[in-house]
Amino acid sequence: MSVRDFSPVSPTFSMPSLLARLVGILALFASAACFAQGTAGPYVPTPWPIVDELLKLGSIKKTDYLIDIGSGDGRLVIEAAKRYGASGLGIDIQAPLVELATANAAKEGVSDRVEFVVDDIFQTGLLSRATIVTVYLLPSIMGKLVPKLLKDLKPGTRIVSHDYALEGMKYDKVLTFDFQEKLDISGTTRTVLYLYTVPGK
Ligand SMILES: C[S@@+](CC[C@H](N)C(=O)[O-])C[C@H]1O[C@@H](n2cnc3c(N)ncnc32)[C@H](O)[C@@H]1O
Repeated sequence: MSVRDFSPVSPTFSMPSLLARLVGILALFASAACFAQGTAGPYVPTPWPIVDELLKLGSIKKTDYLIDIGSGDGRLVIEAAKRYGASGLGIDIQAPLVELATANAAKEGVSDRVEFVVDDIFQTGLLSRATIVTVYLLPSIMGKLVPKLLKDLKPGTRIVSHDYALEGMKYDKVLTFDFQEKLDISGTTRTVLYLYTVPGK
């Protein structure tokens, strides 16, 4: 499959609401199937307006090193570099997505500050460099993810989670939005963003 052929699990065209809800339900089943296969979720890109809100909530600065765990087409890491001058890393288990993200970084002129690697977020040893981490993965893996994040991340690292809370962690801030772009993805326009800080050890 060429990187250009790589399309997200959910359709991006607009549909009447009932059909959109059905797609949302099917996406949930697809997610459950992915979990059963051992992945932490299918490729569903964060819609662009939510990328903006997510980076704002994370208070990204030039000195930040952002790691997106399950980085898809690389948009979060690339936007953080482009708009805020940050640097960062995207980790994804799917090699064609890592290839796509690497090509996107080159197209956007930020290859000197970002990189993308094929790795499993549950096995990776690369997390400790992060000053901020972004997460958009299945709710069912959040419980399993938290011990890895707490073990590997430095105290003070911010975590911004898209839609799903990190089980057992106390958030600093939660924001809710309604984005039309989410209807086709999750069957609802509701979007929740959580901000956490890794506590001292
Ligand atoms: C919902 S998408 C989010 C993509 C991107 N972070 C964004 O917000 O646009 C989840 C991504 O996680 C990746 N993924 C799933 N399981 C993974 C694992 N065990 N290790 C690394 N990446 C994984 C998928 O390939 C997919 O690209």
